[in-house]
Amino acid sequence: MPSRKPQRVASRAGKSYFVRTYGCQMNVHDSERISGLLESDGMVPADAPESADVVILNTCTIRENADMKLYGYLGSLKAVKDERPGMQILVGGCMAQRDRDIILDRAGWVDVVFGTHNTHRVLDLLDHSQEWGPVAEVWDETASVEDMPSMLPANRDSDHSAWVTITIGCNNSCTFCIVPMVRGREISRRPADVISEVQQLARDGVVEVTLLGQNVNSYGRDLDLNGRSPIFADLLRRVGDVEGIRRIRYTSPHPKDIKDDVVHAMAETDAVCEQLHLPLQSGSASILAAMHRGYNGERFLEKLEMARRIIPELAVSTDIIVGFPGETEQDFQYTLDVVAAARFDSAFTFQYSPRPGTPAATMPGHIAKDVIQERFERLIELQNRITFENNVDQVGKIEEVLVEGPSKRNPNVATARTRGNRPVHVDGTFEPGSFMNVEVTRAAAHSLFGVVA
Ligand code: 5AD
Ligand code: SF4
Repeated sequence: MPSRKPQRVASRAGKSYFVRTYGCQMNVHDSERISGLLESDGMVPADAPESADVVILNTCTIRENADMKLYGYLGSLKAVKDERPGMQILVGGCMAQRDRDIILDRAGWVDVVFGTHNTHRVLDLLDHSQEWGPVAEVWDETASVEDMPSMLPANRDSDHSAWVTITIGCNNSCTFCIVPMVRGREISRRPADVISEVQQLARDGVVEVTLLGQNVNSYGRDLDLNGRSPIFADLLRRVGDVEGIRRIRYTSPHPKDIKDDVVHAMAETDAVCEQLHLPLQSGSASILAAMHRGYNGERFLEKLEMARRIIPELAVSTDIIVGFPGETEQDFQYTLDVVAAARFDSAFTFQYSPRPGTPAATMPGHIAKDVIQERFERLIELQNRITFENNVDQVGKIEEVLVEGPSKRNPNVATARTRGNRPVHVDGTFEPGSFMNVEVTRAAAHSLFGVVA
């Protein structure tokens, strides 16, 4: 990574910070890096935002309620800042990227607004605002691979699991989605940079990595390494060669682009887990066309069948949106049909939320909230039943699990994860980050119970 170390004026030794994260894993990952940067400047974590010298809100804009929550929260922080004028408030992430100036207009007590590709600039922006007043700095078209905060110090939530960014931005144009507008064109990191980051993580004791990108299947298309573009299947194999990494996951592939080369690479690379997140979004051909997804329900099921043929034990999760503009009861039925046929192990279900500036926001046929709610509940009911039935099928199996730590509800029970990413509760205390074999003894709605085998 080329060094772009700017001149810094202040060190914040002993000052405290608090990072609040909204949204997806990209943001969780960025927040870990922001924390790492602040700690590299001598700062320490605060217990609560109210007592912190620096408060950072890492925002999301994928759905509407996130926006409303942010302004509500900023309002409550104003009261705290009125009492303690030295406090600095930073707003970063996707909503900051999109609304740069609006945030400073609506919340004049914010000190720094920074965009999705500017996390590495946080310390400089803090210095700048202290000296010159409120500042907004967001990503623009000149962003390049050098702007990726990949090799910054990270303060990871877990000692044994880590996220690794492989691409930023997205070249697709799903009509409901604000990501391409906010995060820009897709930029891939060079394979050598990804591998050296994974090697460093392994040296730090990490045993599980999740590769992150909006559409990992188009990884590398923008790179030219001696006349050839690297591909995701090869990257998976190379990450699989890194000593010490025992589990590899990735998110997300795009159903229109995933091919059997990637699934073969998964099957042939021991460390890659038997788990796939394949976002369906809808089961109706006409809604999928209006969403610009590039496949229909049948094609989606064919891809799934291909993946399960190559990896019979594959656990599959998905994303589904209910109530896209124009969705009829019949369209929704098609979604239920595909969900019933696909038998996902879990699903993230969303109610459609119009994002200003996206094509879908101005499409005709917006669906009433109560209709969306009612469909949403029917979908969840169906998926819950399937999730439970799939969990019941796990009973009696011996599974390798990775211990996460004590369960939130009972410190005498550990929560661990199978390679399929299913949570398993096991009686006893076990070292976080350790592996063991468990026999699954019981299934619950969203988790399993097991005993050491
Ligand atoms: N409304 C509802 N859900 C959305 N998603 C993305 N944009 C929207 C929106 N406008 C969901 C998609 C995507 C997931 C990350 O969030 O299902 O896969
Ligand atoms: Fe959004 Fe579609 Fe890109 Fe995913 S693939 S980030 S849903 S535009």
